[in-house]
Amino acid sequence: MQNRHFFRNRRASDGGQAAIAVGLAMSLSFTLALGQPGPPARPNAGQACHAVSRQACEVAHALGRGVNLGNALDAPREGDWGLRLEPALLDRATRHFQTVRLPVRWSNHASPDAQARLDETFARRVDAVIDRLLAGGGFVILDMHHYKQLTGGPRHPNEFAVDPAVVEARLVNLWRQIAARYRDRSPRLLFELLNEPQGEAGGAGGSALGGARWNRLAARALAAVRETNPERVVLIGPDDWNHPRGLTRLRLPSDRHLIVAIHSYDPFDFTHQGVPWRQPVLPLGRPCCDAAQRQTLREALDTATAWSRTAGVPLHLGEFGAYREAPMESRAAYARMVREEAEARGIGWAWWEFASDFSPVWDAGKGGWVEPIRRALGVETPR
Ligand code: BGC
Repeated sequence: MQNRHFFRNRRASDGGQAAIAVGLAMSLSFTLALGQPGPPARPNAGQACHAVSRQACEVAHALGRGVNLGNALDAPREGDWGLRLEPALLDRATRHFQTVRLPVRWSNHASPDAQARLDETFARRVDAVIDRLLAGGGFVILDMHHYKQLTGGPRHPNEFAVDPAVVEARLVNLWRQIAARYRDRSPRLLFELLNEPQGEAGGAGGSALGGARWNRLAARALAAVRETNPERVVLIGPDDWNHPRGLTRLRLPSDRHLIVAIHSYDPFDFTHQGVPWRQPVLPLGRPCCDAAQRQTLREALDTATAWSRTAGVPLHLGEFGAYREAPMESRAAYARMVREEAEARGIGWAWWEFASDFSPVWDAGKGGWVEPIRRALGVETPR
């Protein structure tokens, strides 16, 4: 596995009791409700939907329990980071999770100029993965991941250079092509405009990708999507790595088919202990989860639900996970804690990640579950 993490840096965090309904019944009710007239959708516990369509509200509700197929199509090239999305792996994910978030590094498979013409061979590969996932019957979140030339910081090995003058136009043009390509796919396919805009000063493009710059760019990318997909549900997340802290700066475009994506790696010194891409490396052996650690998480999620109630836009927790070097018992406790706190607020979630090396729930080498994580996430294994 390559040293992709060496340039990765996530800023450390300084930082209602209605269980989310999960299961087939929810997807079914979504399928039936979609596009049909009826009473307004019931907002999730602690959130509000007054600014979005019934469809967006229903989808947020139905996303339920999910997983990220991370470190495969978001590597500079599929396989560079040790994981390929073989059909059996895709089927395994859809059999056990209602939602699969699919991170894709489109930016490295398109021309480096402003047009960002998609590499057709790669796009066909993504088509095949998406279609296999959709055939599983759940939701698929197609996420624009690791556009490093835009979000800043040094590029990963095997990632080509892009003129900073065209990084934003490329994002818009990538979405124009991707959206046109998938315009006829099921409404269970959702788009997520950009993973973790980071707001780092000095990033590529000359300024931090946060605040007003991100708000303007997200609006342009969404407009490109809307040329061909007027009603597809789209996820947009705040700056500051999608941490709920960034919500105060998020100004959503005027659009009724949105869900807001948040990520949570609180407590950060637990979840990122030992990761080689954060300097200085955080010490190993830190346990989870005591009352203070739970409180840190609660405050972040409460910030998010308070924002949702004001803005009228529902939420999705698109990533959480704890690095494999952390003690296993604590990782399982962490997984359970975040799941419980998210579900108590009616927030659907996706674990980072399914079968790679950050925090897998499926051991691809052995072909079996990482049992403590599976149980903590409440993933059932029907015979
Ligand atoms: C990144 C991964 C990283 C994970 C945890 C994700 O957004 O894409 O490379 O392992 O966050 O930090």
